[in-house]
Amino acid sequence: METITINFILNHKPVSVTCSPNKRLLDVLREDFQLTGTKEGCGIGECGACTVLLNGKAVNSCLILAPQVEGAEVVTVEGLADGEKLHPLQESFLKHGAVQCGFCTPGMLMSAAALLDENPQPSEEDVKEAISGNLCRCTGYKQIVDAILETALD
Ligand code: FES
Ligand code: FES
Repeated sequence: METITINFILNHKPVSVTCSPNKRLLDVLREDFQLTGTKEGCGIGECGACTVLLNGKAVNSCLILAPQVEGAEVVTVEGLADGEKLHPLQESFLKHGAVQCGFCTPGMLMSAAALLDENPQPSEEDVKEAISGNLCRCTGYKQIVDAILETALD
């Protein structure tokens, strides 16, 4: 089978992976780097559970093929915390009870992180828009929106 070697920055470190050129970024992350925080819900770009940052933008990693990240910077939920210190968004999600089963949480965090990087003082509408591609079937979204808004205020 044809393989390709891809070099990119993953969670702030240079990495290299050799894989099939049609392997999805989602599978590269989970299988080749054991970064299982990134989840697969639908696999077709509908649920946002697989959201990661690609050059600072929130993307669905189930829709990105490995060669597309050559030379790029990818951040997964594992790259959000600073060592043992949680990211302020993670602290706020905990404080607000914005996590129930947790399946959507990594994707929600990454969409929120992309928003706050671009717009540090978002309105409630901005937050709702930013997470509009992230489905949660547990929380009803209010706690998540509140958690993101409070992070923006801190
Ligand atoms: S698994 Fe990628 S959007 Fe649902
Ligand atoms: S916490 Fe369960 S899907 Fe969001």
